[in-house]
Amino acid sequence: MTAYSDLSAHFGRIAALSNAIGILQWDNDVMMPRGAAETRAESMALLQVMRHGLSTDARIGGWLAAADSDGSLGAWEKANLREIRRVWTVDTALPSELVEASSKAISACEMRWRQARADADFTGLLPYLAEVLNLQRQIGRAKGEKLGLSPYDALLNDYEPGGRSTKIDALFDDLAAFLPGFTQEAMAVQARRPAQPALEGPFATATQRALGLKFMAALGYDFERGRLDISTHPFCGGADNDVRITTRYEEADFTKALMGVLHETGHALYEQGRPQGYLNQPVGGARGMSLHESQSLLMEMQACRSRQFLTYAAPLMRESFGGTGPAWESEAMWHRYTRVEPGFIRVDADEVTYPAHVILRYRLEKTLIADKMPLAELPAAWNAGMKSLLGVTVPNDRLGCLQDIHWPSGGWGYFPTYTLGAMTAAQIFDAACKADHAILPAIGKGDFSPLVGWLRANIHGKGSLLPTDDLLTEATGRPLDASVFKAHLRRRYIDEV
Ligand code: CO
Repeated sequence: MTAYSDLSAHFGRIAALSNAIGILQWDNDVMMPRGAAETRAESMALLQVMRHGLSTDARIGGWLAAADSDGSLGAWEKANLREIRRVWTVDTALPSELVEASSKAISACEMRWRQARADADFTGLLPYLAEVLNLQRQIGRAKGEKLGLSPYDALLNDYEPGGRSTKIDALFDDLAAFLPGFTQEAMAVQARRPAQPALEGPFATATQRALGLKFMAALGYDFERGRLDISTHPFCGGADNDVRITTRYEEADFTKALMGVLHETGHALYEQGRPQGYLNQPVGGARGMSLHESQSLLMEMQACRSRQFLTYAAPLMRESFGGTGPAWESEAMWHRYTRVEPGFIRVDADEVTYPAHVILRYRLEKTLIADKMPLAELPAAWNAGMKSLLGVTVPNDRLGCLQDIHWPSGGWGYFPTYTLGAMTAAQIFDAACKADHAILPAIGKGDFSPLVGWLRANIHGKGSLLPTDDLLTEATGRPLDASVFKAHLRRRYIDEV
């Protein structure tokens, strides 16, 4: 056995454990009877401790040192070593007391948050959230010392390997200067159109599901290695070669669940397209959360809200639900799916106003991690940001800084990946359509194979072979910037209306 093969076997065992955790987590969110919660939590906690034990195994450092001088390794093996070292450095950065204190604080804060959000009571949440924030700062400092990063960048690095706040500042400042004026412009164009006739429901859940499955198949989702179910919060999860997605149906409105399915299918296509030969190795993993979100948004926003797709999809929608009249025309469907309207809630936001929600959260969490603002001032700072970025007056904290679970659940550093993903999606889709002129016309016929073929070759099949910037530069000719995203918005919401 060489040191490399020892490492590879060891990380294969970690992946096997992660696959079991993934399916148990899916079961927890989709199928589990309520009475099993406590027993399940015990099993999950034990499996996670076992996994942490394996990923911090004392032999890993020695294996890495020996494998470094192995001259027989190819590009994928070398990249695997780089990824293994990255994961191992982060996993061994934290003392176990800090991990335990943080997980306890998060459990308490999440529980309190549900009540606080219902009551719009930030003051009630404050001491719990302060404890989570304090521990996140300590985690950021501990990881940052090992990685040579600021505490915020060290937290960000968990979701976006190689991500740096100086770069995000520049990208987001660019967007923040563009968006308020552009939103006004897009809404003025929109206001000149006649109002859209409403779609008359109800829309049976079984019909919505059947239509969702039909579109998943059109996109190229592999049903031999996954399934579609229902959960309160839609997600893509499961295990290697068992990539499951969920949605949530409303009988009064089918349009949201359907777009939700297309979004999660984008995530799933990435997972199903990872390199089979390295599926259970760190180098075979998805490149980071912004690239993951780019794959869901590429399908949902770039491909499936295009006129081409809706020309194909609208007649199928009408047929499925037995609809009649102008509300079911593809042009009406397109206007419905590209409506711009500033609001309070991030998850309900449209493509144009969504980035403002993210930029606000990013700026606030960076300030709080750096300890440059007292946490008690969060609601006021939030509301001022919503006013200046989106022009809306937040009536209470339930519709304001209490709406998301990310901060109570310790997800500091996650928010920017949503908008980095939207920008990345625009840049990748643009490059794909320029590389293969058949992609858009094929989407108009419900054929996603040219698009998915390009994504397989340039994104999915590369796993974590390259750092994100290099992957994007190879695929699109340049590192990420805001210009393609802005051009996409201008084309869709001004020029082509
Ligand atoms: Co997503």
